[in-house]
Amino acid sequence: MMKRREFLRNTAAAAGVLVFNSAPLSFAQNPDARIEVMLDEPLGIIDPNIYGHFAENLSGVIYDGIWVGENSKVPNINGIRKELVEEMRKIKPPIVRFPGGCFADSYDWRDGVGPVDKRPRRTNFWNGEEIPSAPDSHRYDPNRFGTNEFVEFCRLLGAQPYLAANLRSLPAEELDRWVEYCNSPAGSTTLADERAAAGFKDPFNVRYWGIGNESWGCGGNFTAQEYAVEYRRYTAWVPTYPHGPKLSFVASGPNDNNWDWTRGFLEEITRKGRFAIFGIYGLALHYYAWNLSRGKTNDWVQGKGDAVNFEPVDWYELLRQGDVMESLITGHWQVMAEFDPEHHIKLVVDEWGPWYKPGSALTPEDQLEQMPTLRDGVFSGMTLDTFNRQPDKVAIGCCAQLINCLNSLYLAHEDKFVVTPVGHVFAMYADHQGGQAMRTEFSAPSIHYDRDGGPATFWGLNGSASLHDKQLIITAVNPNVRDPLAAQIAVRGARIKSGSATVLTASDIHAHNTFDQRDAVTPKPAQFEVQGDAPVFTFPAASVTKLSLELA
Ligand code: AHR
Repeated sequence: MMKRREFLRNTAAAAGVLVFNSAPLSFAQNPDARIEVMLDEPLGIIDPNIYGHFAENLSGVIYDGIWVGENSKVPNINGIRKELVEEMRKIKPPIVRFPGGCFADSYDWRDGVGPVDKRPRRTNFWNGEEIPSAPDSHRYDPNRFGTNEFVEFCRLLGAQPYLAANLRSLPAEELDRWVEYCNSPAGSTTLADERAAAGFKDPFNVRYWGIGNESWGCGGNFTAQEYAVEYRRYTAWVPTYPHGPKLSFVASGPNDNNWDWTRGFLEEITRKGRFAIFGIYGLALHYYAWNLSRGKTNDWVQGKGDAVNFEPVDWYELLRQGDVMESLITGHWQVMAEFDPEHHIKLVVDEWGPWYKPGSALTPEDQLEQMPTLRDGVFSGMTLDTFNRQPDKVAIGCCAQLINCLNSLYLAHEDKFVVTPVGHVFAMYADHQGGQAMRTEFSAPSIHYDRDGGPATFWGLNGSASLHDKQLIITAVNPNVRDPLAAQIAVRGARIKSGSATVLTASDIHAHNTFDQRDAVTPKPAQFEVQGDAPVFTFPAASVTKLSLELA
C-alpha cells in the first residue's frame, strides 16, 4: 500500500510539473484517499456505444418486457411499452443488440416480417426448455416483434439497431437478404417493397451486424478456425447500397479469457492475407461474473451465488470477478496486436454482467430473470468505469440484458414496471458518452476481508473521468460495505470552479427495487463543497458516485 501511494505521489508531481508547470497542489494528511485527474493525458473519446444494451428474444425480455401489444391495457406506443421508452430516453441509449444471444442462431428473420396475422409461430427455447409455468409467448414465439418492430423501438429511443445474424442454421444468402430487407433503397428490390408495405418505405440503414453469436458454443460449436472460415464466407459479398451505411461486422469472439479463440480466429482469418482484418469492425467478448464459490468449484451450476441473499464476502467476490474485465480487455487486445498491430479491429463487449442462480426473479416465469441489488449497481458502475478507461479498445458494450433477464436495467410484468439500481447507474453515467477520457489515478487503502478463513483484498476506490468542454465528469465506486471514504480531488491543469455530486447507495447492501417498493435504491444529490484546489468528497460506503465539476 505504502509503495503504491509513494508511486502515485511521484507520478502526480511529475505530471503537474511537466506539462502545466502549475503550482503543486497541496494534499492534506487527513483524507484517506486521492483522485487525480491528469488533463494532459487524454486516453481517447468514449464511444457512446459502450453504453449499449442487449435485448434477446428470451423468455420475458421481448414479450412482456418490451412488447405488450397495441391492444394492451398497458400504455404503449404501437405495442411497445411506453414506460420503458420513457425511462430509456433518460439514459441516452446509443445502440441495442437483438435478437440474441443464443436465440440469434436459431432465428429466421423472415418469420418476423410481413403481415402480422401471417407470421408463423415457432418454438423458442433457451438451453433446451422453458420454465413449465411460462406463458405460451415464451415457448412459442408469435413473431409479433420482428425486424420492423425492433427498428421502431430503436427509433423511439434514438438508438442504433445492432442485429445478430444466424450463422448456425441459416445459409449465408439469408444474411444478404436480411441486409437487403433493411437497407435497400425504397422501391429498389422486392424486399424493399415488402418493407414499404409494412409501413417502412425508407431503408432502416442498419450498420452493425453480428456474424453469429458465441460460435464456440450455442452458435454452432465451431473451433475458432472453423468459425473463421465461416466468417469469411458469410461476409465475403454482403451488399451495401447507395447512401446506405458501410456495414460494420462483429465477429463472434472469445468467452472470458479464451485467448486461444482470439488467436485461432485471427490466425485463420488472415491466412489468405492481412486484408481480411479490414472486413472486421469488432471482435465480440462475452464475460459474465458468475462464480461465487470462493474457489471451491468451476461448475457452471454449482458455482453460482444468490442474487439477493449474500454475505459481505460475496459482495467483494462478485466485484473481484467483475474487475477481471479490465485484464480481459487488455489481454485480448494484446493477442489481437499479433495480427492487427494498428488495431483496426476493436473489442465489442456485447454481453456482460453478473449471472446468479435462479430463484430471485420478480416474475418467476421469466427464465434467467434475476433481482439486481445495490451490489449489481456497484458492479455496473465499476464495469462502465472500466470501459471508460479503455476508450481506444472498446467500441461497443451491451449490458446483458435490458429487461426481465440477467443484469437488467428494468423489470416489468403486465402493467408493473420498475427501474433497478443498474438502470439508475446507467442514468448517472450517461453524461460520459462522447467525452474525452482522462487518465485518472484513484489512490486509497485496500480493503481486507475474510475469504473462508483466508485473507483477501480488493481495491478501496476506483473510477473514471471524462472531459466535456469545461465540464469534468468523475464517476467512482467505493466498494467498502462498511466505511465511507474521504478523498481529495485534484485536477491537474485546471481549477475547479464548482461541483455537484449524485450518489447511489443504501443502508442495506442487499437493497433492491420491486414493483411495490420502487425507490429503495435511487440516486440522490449529495453535499459537495468545492473549496481550495483539492476539495474533499466523502464517498459513502457501498456506493456509486457521479461528480460533475465546472472547470475554470
Ligand atoms: O444472455 C444470456 C445468454 O448468455 C445468451 O443467450 C448467450 O449469448 C450467452 O451465453
